[in-house]
Amino acid sequence: MAIQYEASKQLFHLQTNKTSYAFELIEGRYPSHVYWGRRIRGNQLHTLVERQERASFCPNPVPGRNEISFDTMPHEYPSYGSSDFRTPAFEAQYANGTTVSDLRYESHEIVQGKPALPGLPATYTESDDEAVTLLVKLRDSLTGLTVTLSYSVYEALNAITRSVSFSNEGEEIVQLRRALSMSVDFQHDRFDMLQLSGSWSRERDVFRRPLRPGMQSIESRRGSSSHMQNPFIALLEHGATEEHGDVYGVSFVYSGSFLAGVEVDQFRTSRLFMGINPFDFGWRLEAGETFQTPEVVLAYSPEGLGGMSRIYHELYRTRLCRGHYRDAVRPVLVNNWEGTYFNFNADKLEAIAKVGSELGMELFVLDDGWFGKRDNDTSSLGDWFVDKRKLPGGLEDIAERINKLGMQFGLWFEPEMISPDSELYRAHPDWCLHMPGRHRTTGRTQLILDMSRPDVQQYLIDTISGVLSSAPIEYVKWDMNRNMSEIGSALLPAERQRETAHRYMLGLYNVLEQITSKFPNVLFESCSGGGGRFDPGMLYYMPQTWTSDNTDAISRLRIQYGTSIVYPISAMGAHISEVPNHQVGRITSLETRGNVAMSGNFGYELDLTKFTDEEKTVVADQIALYKELRTLVQQGDFHRLLSPFEGNETSWMFVSKDKREVMAVYVQVLNEPHPPLGRFKLRGLDPSLNYRLLGTDRVYGGDELMYAGIATPRFHHDFGSALLRFVAE
Ligand code: DGJ
Repeated sequence: MAIQYEASKQLFHLQTNKTSYAFELIEGRYPSHVYWGRRIRGNQLHTLVERQERASFCPNPVPGRNEISFDTMPHEYPSYGSSDFRTPAFEAQYANGTTVSDLRYESHEIVQGKPALPGLPATYTESDDEAVTLLVKLRDSLTGLTVTLSYSVYEALNAITRSVSFSNEGEEIVQLRRALSMSVDFQHDRFDMLQLSGSWSRERDVFRRPLRPGMQSIESRRGSSSHMQNPFIALLEHGATEEHGDVYGVSFVYSGSFLAGVEVDQFRTSRLFMGINPFDFGWRLEAGETFQTPEVVLAYSPEGLGGMSRIYHELYRTRLCRGHYRDAVRPVLVNNWEGTYFNFNADKLEAIAKVGSELGMELFVLDDGWFGKRDNDTSSLGDWFVDKRKLPGGLEDIAERINKLGMQFGLWFEPEMISPDSELYRAHPDWCLHMPGRHRTTGRTQLILDMSRPDVQQYLIDTISGVLSSAPIEYVKWDMNRNMSEIGSALLPAERQRETAHRYMLGLYNVLEQITSKFPNVLFESCSGGGGRFDPGMLYYMPQTWTSDNTDAISRLRIQYGTSIVYPISAMGAHISEVPNHQVGRITSLETRGNVAMSGNFGYELDLTKFTDEEKTVVADQIALYKELRTLVQQGDFHRLLSPFEGNETSWMFVSKDKREVMAVYVQVLNEPHPPLGRFKLRGLDPSLNYRLLGTDRVYGGDELMYAGIATPRFHHDFGSALLRFVAE
């Protein structure tokens, strides 16, 4: 059993194959954290708990028990106001205006499987034996607020999920002012905090810093998870590497504003927390109502950052993503965006697709500009009907022309947006997020639809479904190109305005749920100016994300490396685009662009009709190679070898589950004169197997490749790269 309750010690012990997570009830009332880390035998855990009396500045809630203080207790779900002075996990305001809660254990339940979270994306099970769930109910007896802490344990996948639900079982209104999804207290601060931060076109750079006393946190206030901060942090024991050391990850299954951080207190304990950003958040709970927080996925690995990443990769690829394409290999695509931008017609698209089909591409994606009167980015979002000037025969005709070439047809949408210059806006000026009397701030000349409104949700479900049914559309790119401002809703009453941002997310999730379940065989790819919403929430509905608008192969080293810290390779869109690169002006070889893009869901994004014959030969070979490799890339185990954040070289590799097939990519950014000798070591192989390096007659032992490594490839130019394939003999 993955969850045990030892009644004599009032101790809950959650175990995966490699992890233990435990907490006890102090005085039978207060859930107090005991341990999270490498798996420990159940009967050993009580020795971990040690309590000390502290100075009077740490008050004592239980008379006569001066060793108990809320301010030193490692809480499972702390609140503010009755003497824990550290950052709280939640705050409720009651009808009399007060904000102190006294949550005490009431009951618990252990159920096989994992209940879905109503209206929210979450990891799931396919059969009840894959997970066990513990529900601990706490009650504030004065007001009737009950708080249920939920823990699901994936024994084989080595992950634990947490979420919280609040129910108002009293008679008066409760106002939630803060409702994080998890909090956990470690007994020391000997950690580094790792975060994935950046900007548009420079997403998910890896930053690592030692913890210091006080607060260190990341957050998004932008209404989406954002390019700037990804909803993930990890604590790494000092000195932990890719392969060694304790690493604790927390990843938020949510696509809106979030907060994640660590507070180190006066006793050098570390409180790690994550949830919806309390900034500008509120939720009014009427009597009888419930509020469910999104889920946080906790992954502990004693095998370094790489071990933690592989836990997330496996869980997210197989038990977060859904639909036909969860397990199916992804098609090699060509997208017309960087090839034509808004300037295309049906013949031009067909000409690009024709070359693509001759070279082996399988899917043609028509990007922005096919609808309304959209010749640039200043109009038409919301008018999801075909622009007959560009596509006189409509979507049906262009899809048919593409299908005749033996390719699937895919389409871009930006459904959450509305251009002020659109028929939709002229008909429904109150359908966007806005506040009465305030200026409506545009970004890319567009406003955001108020997805909290049921009528807007229904309009989108009907409109997008209508387009998808009107032609054989087998792929959708769902874009979202700005962040939220003036976050108010015309339909919500004054006292619920602060709910708008979260209600937006619930509305978006409802629309996505309905559309993706109506079209289960369509491949959905989410996008937000590239990776502005690369988060587990979106992956629940769409199994892949356009990783970044930056398609430069060298920039992509960092972007894809950083993204791989949490997200599976099958989630990352990666395309070859033209040189000089449109975002950074860099010129890299077709080979290097291919080697980097083939380390993700591979595609092309340029005008294929401009290829020379020589380029066509290279491209045809790339596509044939990728088709051989894609199961390995998309479903194999991923190992990072050399970090682009630490030097001039980057390397990563893929190993099949049976360890017989290997692909390694090595990239050297700048060439050096008279370079030092270099070697790099592979990982995750079977040391007892022999591997042949394809294209040569060389055979290496798996042990040799991992322990001695191989010589780094040499180049006589900048941006050199190699793709090495090994097969076990
Ligand atoms: C932003 C996306 O990230 C791009 O790939 C492209 O689809 C444009 N939007 C189109 O407007």
